[in-house]
Amino acid sequence: MQAVKKAVIPAAGLGTRMLPISRCVPKEMFPIVDRPAISYLVNEAIDSGMTEVLIITGREKDAIEDYFDYSPEYDQALTAKGRELEVELIHGEISRGNIFFTRQKEKRGLGHALMCARSFVGNDPFAVLYGDDMVFSETPVCKQLADVYEKYGKPVVGLKTVTKEQLRKFCSMKAEPIEGTANEYTVTDMIEKPAPGKEYTDLAILGRVLLTPEIFDILETTAPGAGGEIQLTDAMAEYARRYGMVGLEFEGKRFDLGSKLGFLEANLYAGTKHPEVGEKFTEILKEFAKGL
Ligand code: UTP
Repeated sequence: MQAVKKAVIPAAGLGTRMLPISRCVPKEMFPIVDRPAISYLVNEAIDSGMTEVLIITGREKDAIEDYFDYSPEYDQALTAKGRELEVELIHGEISRGNIFFTRQKEKRGLGHALMCARSFVGNDPFAVLYGDDMVFSETPVCKQLADVYEKYGKPVVGLKTVTKEQLRKFCSMKAEPIEGTANEYTVTDMIEKPAPGKEYTDLAILGRVLLTPEIFDILETTAPGAGGEIQLTDAMAEYARRYGMVGLEFEGKRFDLGSKLGFLEANLYAGTKHPEVGEKFTEILKEFAKGL
């Protein structure tokens, strides 16, 4: 089976749940301690063996592109102060893999954003990392998905078991466990934001999928769905009904950076684990919690 070398990160959305700040700061650039969310996603893709990463941006999102560029003023200032090691670290952080950018000219939904990746993808399998979904895991989630893709040769959706209440906001899977595995499923359909009683299972897609180029033919004929947007889940549901997909309940702690609580929680989590400030921050947090 062909190894997965490409990843796509749609990051062009309006981020209305994070207003007012998202008008000026793309949510994908929100800091998780000292690095923007997008940096964690790019690193996840590259640590998973993907060598080419396409970030789909849009108007007001230039900061994303700037982050992956050199900044000679900082390099000079740091070098003048004898802080060459920091320059090296920054260059190392922003120079991993081949990073490409394209713009989604109209914000017509995740499915529409993905269509902008068609020529980049060509005939290859590719991972999709939803730009506001962050996962901390032992093995990078894209690697977990790529391993399963290589095993079955079918598109893979990253799943988590969620509560009935959470399921209303996500996409419920029609899924059957694959015999002899602990966390792999055959997926034959899915339903977006199911009304009570309409859900298939408590398994929902959360932030990572691994697709093949056939999805573009389906997307091309996918009518606008929820919110008048072209929904990727509508196209994946059609794919699952026609050909079947594989579901993987992945290992890792996931945060929705597109929501206020998810963003705050991700910073608490990453803050306590940060090599430089983690220990001190945990102490501060414990002290702070006493007064709550
Ligand atoms: P979301 O639905 O969470 O993003 O899409 P949104 O539309 O920005 O969020 P709200 O609901 O208004 O707060 C998941 C990912 O898909 C990207 C987003 O940037 C996000 O990373 N996306 C969404 C696009 O690239 N283009 C779109 O038209 C919509």
